[in-house]
Amino acid sequence: MVSSRARKVTTQTLQKMKQSGEKIAMLTAYDYSLARLVDSAGIDVILVGDSASNVMAGNETTVPITLDHMIYHAQCVVNGVDRALVVVDMPFGSYQGDSKTALDSAIRIMKESGGHAVKLEGGAEVCESVKRIVEAGIPVMGHLGLTPQSIYKFGTYSVRAKEDAEAARLIEDAKALEAAGCFSVVFEKIPSELAKQASEALTIPTIGIGAGSDCDGQVLVLHDMLGITKDFSPRFLRRYADLGEPPRQRSGSTWRTSAAWTSRTRKRGIEQGRAAPLTTFMDARIRMRKDCHE
Ligand code: KIV
Repeated sequence: MVSSRARKVTTQTLQKMKQSGEKIAMLTAYDYSLARLVDSAGIDVILVGDSASNVMAGNETTVPITLDHMIYHAQCVVNGVDRALVVVDMPFGSYQGDSKTALDSAIRIMKESGGHAVKLEGGAEVCESVKRIVEAGIPVMGHLGLTPQSIYKFGTYSVRAKEDAEAARLIEDAKALEAAGCFSVVFEKIPSELAKQASEALTIPTIGIGAGSDCDGQVLVLHDMLGITKDFSPRFLRRYADLGEPPRQRSGSTWRTSAAWTSRTRKRGIEQGRAAPLTTFMDARIRMRKDCHE
């Protein structure tokens, strides 16, 4: 296996993984503690996504997050990572203007956060910026399909490139990003057949989210995967835990009622091979409440 031989995952490791058919696992992280867990679990790429705007700051879109915020989150993540490749999203407004602005923003991210690569959204229209950033020695990951920074242009978060014309443009954009020097490209919410076709047409690895199973890797937002974000439940999302399930407490119930419920839940969870993290949090909550009463 290519990835298990890599002491540190680099863009070359990902390229070799594509060549050998080994799938790439990518997750988001925004802070030191979770980045450490994700890294020690052997995830190949950690994305400091601008989804931090949603899951960290509670904003409705990724539009408000700033370059300073992204650098702060990326610094925290880098401090917790030994092995994974850390890719940092360039936020809305930090690269769309012109290629000099894009280069300046990418340099700030690399110098101030210690991240290993940047990611930006868009196709042919960002290729001049991609070239300039890559020429400065900074690896760039592209992002096509549903590009959340353009949500006000799209109007919805639904699947992109269902029509032939948009699908053909996506393939052209992907090829243009590869030619401009991107080391990889994310496909978000596109038909699986199109993602397969585009992955076969490119020599660089493709990473899918809501794009079927034929990309060279998959990415998920950590908070979605852990079930912390309850109001976001697309079909492609595989939840590995349910940390957002609120404790079922009737009014007037005491911590003892919760404890009884917790132990039933834990038993059921353990029988079903899940729920350990949730019950750990709930145990802590019950114990802390109890301590306050004493
Ligand atoms: O910001 C993010 O989390 C992303 C992923 C959805 C790919 O860009």
